[in-house]
Amino acid sequence: MRDNAGLPAKPLSPMTDRYAVIGNPIAHSKSPLIHGLFAQATGQDLEYTAIEGPLDGFADAVRAFIAAGGRGMNVTLPFKLQAFEIATDPMESARLAGAVNALKFEGDRVLAQNFDGLGLVNDIQRNLGMPLKGKRVLICGAGGATRGAILPIAQQNPALLAVANRSADKAHQLRTDFAAHTTLQTGGYAELAGERFDVVINATSTGLSQDALPLPEGVFAPGALAYELVYGKGLTPFLKQARAAGVAQLVDGVGMLVEQAAEAFEWWRGVRPDTRPVIQRLTVPLV
Ligand code: ATR
Repeated sequence: MRDNAGLPAKPLSPMTDRYAVIGNPIAHSKSPLIHGLFAQATGQDLEYTAIEGPLDGFADAVRAFIAAGGRGMNVTLPFKLQAFEIATDPMESARLAGAVNALKFEGDRVLAQNFDGLGLVNDIQRNLGMPLKGKRVLICGAGGATRGAILPIAQQNPALLAVANRSADKAHQLRTDFAAHTTLQTGGYAELAGERFDVVINATSTGLSQDALPLPEGVFAPGALAYELVYGKGLTPFLKQARAAGVAQLVDGVGMLVEQAAEAFEWWRGVRPDTRPVIQRLTVPLV
């Protein structure tokens, strides 16, 4: 465990509510800083730490935290699926994503949410000023990040929501899984030839691996937004591709990170923190 990163340590009273982020590795997590800033700005008396969960002992680590008075947790890699398994009350966001990024403990109940997709939508619409209604939206990738983003985006009524993936079968599977909720256009990257999108989101892990995606030319419509979910990696291959295609609005996932945290904070505390100063503080220039 470590203290709220970057913030002066403050004495804990017996009344101080305890929260934490759990992951492995966890040293890189910005969540203690973000929630510490939220608590400071809203005057909430809480402690928020980072816990490195043992790879073979996630559930025990959560139970120990609850026994020590923990009120809620954020969950990051590699525990998002295991968190779903220990939830007694998975909310719709968690059920559809099949993964969890926030837990709330109430007596014996473990309530679970996935705020990643909502954080993404809030960042695009509120912070970047791009309403998704009527837009043509493309998500690249068909893993957990995409699964979490589909419903919150679909709920904004885009003109089209497409999911492209290296293995097209995995994208088609998402169309089947979400059929009761929305209609997805799914396929491989080559099938995007001749199509244009107003919002293109990279939800693959290529932001970390530095591989480029085989996006056909012309996939970015004039005035398009290119959104890289990975945060703090500068110009990833995807953002470079977008820039080379003339896209002016290039962003990474810092806004999504802070917005999903704000959703969790409000869920736990009933108070909505102002995200803008925190996003500003965490933004790393895209160079
Ligand atoms: P996450 O939970 O972060 O979404 P994931 O479930 O492991 O991670 O999914 C990773 C995604 O990145 C997948 O869509 C994967 O494509 P495949 O399903 O075809 O494997 C995609 N991905 C990873 N490396 C890639 C690459 N070099 N080119 C294209 N897509 C890649």
